Amino acid sequence: MRTQVAIIGAGPAGLLLGQLLHRHGIDNIIIEKHTPEHVLSRIRAGVIEQVAVDLIDEAGVGARMRRDGLVHHGTQFCVDGVRHRFDFRELTGKSVMVYGQTEITKDLMDGRAAAGLPTDYAAYDVALHNIFGAHPTVTYRGDGRSHQVECDFIAGCDGFHGVSRKSVPSGAIKTYERIYPFGWLGLLTDRPPVSDELIYVRHELGFALCSMRSPTRSRYYLQVSLADDINDWPDERFWDELRLRLDGKANADLVDGPALEKSIAPLRSFVAEPMRFGRLLLAGDAAHIVPPTGAKGLNLAASDVRYLSQALVERYKENSDIGLDHYSARALARVWKAERFSWWMTTLLHTFPDGQFEQKMQSAELDYLFKSRSAAAAFAENYVGLPF
Ligand code: FAD
Ligand code: PHB
Repeated sequence: MRTQVAIIGAGPAGLLLGQLLHRHGIDNIIIEKHTPEHVLSRIRAGVIEQVAVDLIDEAGVGARMRRDGLVHHGTQFCVDGVRHRFDFRELTGKSVMVYGQTEITKDLMDGRAAAGLPTDYAAYDVALHNIFGAHPTVTYRGDGRSHQVECDFIAGCDGFHGVSRKSVPSGAIKTYERIYPFGWLGLLTDRPPVSDELIYVRHELGFALCSMRSPTRSRYYLQVSLADDINDWPDERFWDELRLRLDGKANADLVDGPALEKSIAPLRSFVAEPMRFGRLLLAGDAAHIVPPTGAKGLNLAASDVRYLSQALVERYKENSDIGLDHYSARALARVWKAERFSWWMTTLLHTFPDGQFEQKMQSAELDYLFKSRSAAAAFAENYVGLPF
């Protein structure tokens, strides 16, 4: 088979890129390791910035998000039992949208199917060839057959554990990494959220987050030890521990219920440089990971796709390579700012082992954040998404 752009991975980055390229008349195929059901079963992001909202609209699949997404004009911190609110509208004039990654993925998959675009799910042994040559290819197995796709460009949108970044010779890539000494235990339940805004909780027992997916479905997270196993956390233990970390009002308002999904995710900061290797272009988690505290991962994937789709459109419609030549530098400039913000917010709100000095620094920083309008504005500006 021959196409213009072979996209590896049907997560938000790959699906969004495929849809945007299609709308500009650029042929693409998506090759995905898992089944659509598996892709949709992963519960991840919940908060999306204007950049992602705009791209989803541009991809032509924004109708359900516009109808069901919840616009949030602020967020709350609860520090040692005391609540503080940041008003995004007043501080930045902007807001964020709460709409689950699962729903975005579903809307993009439906849009792709309606347009009749090729997607090979359950593909295994995916391999990239000749990325530095003029004619790269992708081979894989699926449906009991071997497949080969010839293309002009390969978009590596296959997440942190994917094959794309690993196909690059080690001398051509530099990576930066920080692994945090804790994980997030997430629980999804069909109960109304405890608050109509997200609550980020700093408590000596550990960080907690009260989030949501809809007026009737909530998502909660607890900072847990990396040694913990999901079987250590029956639902009752989760709710008991969450209550210990919340303030009195949240405790009174919290409605617990059975878990629809429960999982533990490690926290990591990671960046690979550059993001282009010949005709292979990385986007999203394939190139960088942020700890989820700042709600930036999916948003960064969307901002990479914005730069990459524009660069490919310039290549095919204007015969210009300028966008492709600048893709890595442009994307990384935004990536590092989101890395900084996510690392800062993680450091500010979590409990670290043996960190008495760090705890004092957290308290001083939080006090400053709550009392200084400039500090609050800097937080809000980053949270709602920096301008392009
Ligand atoms: P992925 O979603 O990982 O998609 C990659 C795809 O590639 C997958 O479908 C995978 O199956 C496929 N693949 C892997 N290997 C191969 C292979 N060899 N061949 C073919 N296909 C392959 N971000 C936010 O912006 N806001 C939030 O509120 C937020 N909350 C989060 C909460 C949690 C608990 C977690 C874990 C993450 C959160 N994120 C958040 C991050 C966000 O979910 C990710 O950044 C986002 O999924 C990245 O999208 P992606 O398409 O780059 O990668
Ligand atoms: C979520 O709802 O899953 C979520 C929200 C905000 C975050 C991280 C995760 O910072």
